[in-house]
Amino acid sequence: MKRHVWRPLFVVVGMVVVILLFRLLYVPDDFGSQDRGYTFGYHRLSNEQEWKDYPAKYQDSSYCSGCHEDKSESVGASGHAMIPCENCHGAAFNHPEDPETLTIDRSRELCIRCHSELYMPSSGRNDIPGIDPSQHNAGIECSDCHNPHNPSLEDM
Ligand code: HEC
Ligand code: HEC
Ligand code: HEC
Ligand code: HEC
Repeated sequence: MKRHVWRPLFVVVGMVVVILLFRLLYVPDDFGSQDRGYTFGYHRLSNEQEWKDYPAKYQDSSYCSGCHEDKSESVGASGHAMIPCENCHGAAFNHPEDPETLTIDRSRELCIRCHSELYMPSSGRNDIPGIDPSQHNAGIECSDCHNPHNPSLEDM
């Protein structure tokens, strides 16, 4: 074969060698498809433990019921049952160790986020009872009149 054929071939061979060398030096030993096959794609096995050790930010409402049973009961029996406690009180992290208490937000903004009357005909957002914040008892905190853990109008 002529030299002009060999030359590009050398370049290709050189590139393959460089890629293989890079793979040997930089790809960790435990990187691959792992025992669950290709379900989770290629990943590092040690990365699974790294994520398990990662501190959880949100704990779920069942976590709260162990210590704030009265609240869990009233919220659970109310129209707000589907709202996770942490949606209003913020992420629990390792509470009550750290932080010792969670946020108590009494601002109108907390409630207006869901209860401001909006016109969204094709979405479930329309089913949430709405008020016009500029008309509905403006300037007074919602929780002065409504119990956030049991907002039923009958119990007011
Ligand atoms: C292991 C028990 C425990 C768990 C679980 C727990 N808490 Fe608490 N919580 C406490 C204690 C103790 C306090 C401090 C009480 C105090 O200062 O009156 C507290 C305080 C609070 C406060 C502030 C109360 C105040 O009057 O300032 C809020 C809000 C709160 N917790 C919400 C939650 C929510 C929401 C969850 C679930 C994500 C939760 N807690 C899970 C024990 C717990
Ligand atoms: C819709 C928002 C909302 C949800 C959902 C909610 N809270 Fe609250 N929570 C509040 C507000 C607002 C206050 C302050 C009430 C006040 O001062 O009148 C409060 C107060 C508290 C307090 C301390 C004051 C008190 O009343 O003793 C605790 C503890 C608490 N909530 C726990 C919980 C737990 C546990 C859940 C879930 C089962 C929960 N909350 C769900 C909004 C909410
Ligand atoms: C994450 C969204 C969300 C937040 C935040 C929220 N709510 Fe609600 N609220 C709802 C939903 C959804 C319902 C309707 C439940 C049902 O259909 O029974 C409801 C029901 C109510 C009702 C009952 C209305 C009726 O016709 O019976 C009142 C009053 C109310 N909420 C007040 C509040 C107040 C006060 C706050 C703030 C402390 C608040 N809500 C925060 C979603 C929310
Ligand atoms: C001064 C007391 C007071 C304050 C403050 C107040 N409300 Fe009300 N709210 C009422 C009363 C009374 C009703 C029932 C009669 C009515 O519909 O006006 C009501 C009704 C509602 C309803 C039901 C509307 C419907 O069509 O079913 C929602 C939702 C509501 N309030 C949310 C809020 C929110 C959110 C805030 C704060 C931004 C708030 N309220 C502040 C007294 C109050």
